[in-house]
Amino acid sequence: MVSIPILSLIVLFLVFSAGVQFSVADEPVPAPWPEQFHALMLMNKSGSLEIVDLWYDWVNDRNFNIIQKQLGKLTYDLEWNNGTSFYYTLDASRTCRTVHFEVGILRPNWLDGAKYLGQRHVNGFLCNVWEKVDFLWYYEDVVSKRPVQWIFYTGREAHVMTFEVGAVLEDEKWQAPVYCFHNDNKNSE
Ligand SMILES: *[C@@H]1O[C@H](CO)[C@@H](O)[C@H](O)[C@H]1NC(C)=O
Ligand SMILES: *[C@@H]1O[C@H](CO)[C@@H](O)[C@H](O)[C@H]1NC(C)=O
Repeated sequence: MVSIPILSLIVLFLVFSAGVQFSVADEPVPAPWPEQFHALMLMNKSGSLEIVDLWYDWVNDRNFNIIQKQLGKLTYDLEWNNGTSFYYTLDASRTCRTVHFEVGILRPNWLDGAKYLGQRHVNGFLCNVWEKVDFLWYYEDVVSKRPVQWIFYTGREAHVMTFEVGAVLEDEKWQAPVYCFHNDNKNSE
């Protein structure tokens, strides 16, 4: 004869296993990116360091990476959602390269479908971690839902130092310099 306490243990076990199955279905998903934000990022590409001043502006179809390489040049990477990107400097060298991509800037929901990998402690933050297959691992603070870092398959690491939701860079700063539009510019593609 199975005693009542053992029966209730079995019932508890069944309830618990059902609960575990539910929690798989209820896996956390990454917060979509705010439609406009400003972030200061520390990038590490196998030991080459950069500070990136990132202005994400989905509302106005544009994304700006202002890149300071360690003891190197300040470089501007201005991306439009129509696929055109301008890479330029504003120093005396007046270089500009125009690149056309098939796709525009990242959509706010670009992390949809990422595979949940669980939780990790990273630089003092408890993070949910997802893998965007063929691309990167994404770490988001469990409490604030802000991104903490993402690591590309290439090994390039992006560490988020500030994250200001709703901050927008003034329109005049989004104007690529005139030498980006010279047809005879040797650096244009
Ligand atoms: C950058 O990454 C390299 C490994 O690729 C590591 O050895 C180095 O400590 C990192 N530097 C910083 C400042 O995180
Ligand atoms: C995309 O938009 C930018 C900014 O308005 C413009 O300079 C560029 O010429 C456009 N590119 C194409 C392919 O229309």
